[in-house]
Amino acid sequence: MTRTLVVLAHPDLDASRVNAALATGIRDLPDVTVHDLYAAYADFRIDVPYEQRLLTEHDRVILQFPFYWYSVPPLLKKWLDEVFERGWAYGSGGDALHGKRLRLATTVGGGEKLYQPAGLNRFPVTDLLLPWDATANLTGMSYEPPFIVHGASSITDEELAEQVRLYRRLLTAASLRPAALV
Ligand SMILES: Cc1cc2nc3c(=O)[nH]c(=O)nc-3n(C[C@H](O)[C@H](O)[C@H](O)COP(=O)(O)O)c2cc1C
Repeated sequence: MTRTLVVLAHPDLDASRVNAALATGIRDLPDVTVHDLYAAYADFRIDVPYEQRLLTEHDRVILQFPFYWYSVPPLLKKWLDEVFERGWAYGSGGDALHGKRLRLATTVGGGEKLYQPAGLNRFPVTDLLLPWDATANLTGMSYEPPFIVHGASSITDEELAEQVRLYRRLLTAASLRPAALV
């Protein structure tokens, strides 16, 4: 059974519509741990050994967050900076994450058309997230295509329900797939 860790990083989950719905939609899944970073570390003081242990105990890691300034919210960046230590995640002896899978799940305010060469934001979100592909590579994780909810600022209830269904299916499929076949 694949164990999935969802690292949820929303600075104001109470005010969130899309991430809150996505998280609610997967919380009851077996073998899925939803870890709310901002709830755990309101003071931004991350318990690095605890975070490393959580990662070690799971086979697959999903980073779920609202897209902020073409990037991740600050606590998630701090989490990366502090938890993915040299000698643990990379460098000599740094093989703790080898063989695990990494997927980003992000909600993006702007629609897909804005993220095209002729659009306001010029680049597709998958391109803007490429540093995570490099991070996965450096740490021996396999990088899975990001789950992107575009138009999050104006998404209808029906569209949101469909995205929650897709997200749930993605995580269910992951947890049903035998590790040996991954
Ligand atoms: C500080 C901040 C930065 C943001 N940056 C972007 C951005 O770069 N591109 C974009 O499309 N939307 C951006 N947004 C919109 C958020 O992505 C959007 O509000 C969020 O995904 C909605 O999810 P939620 O309902 O879970 O909060 C930004 C919002 C905030 C508050």
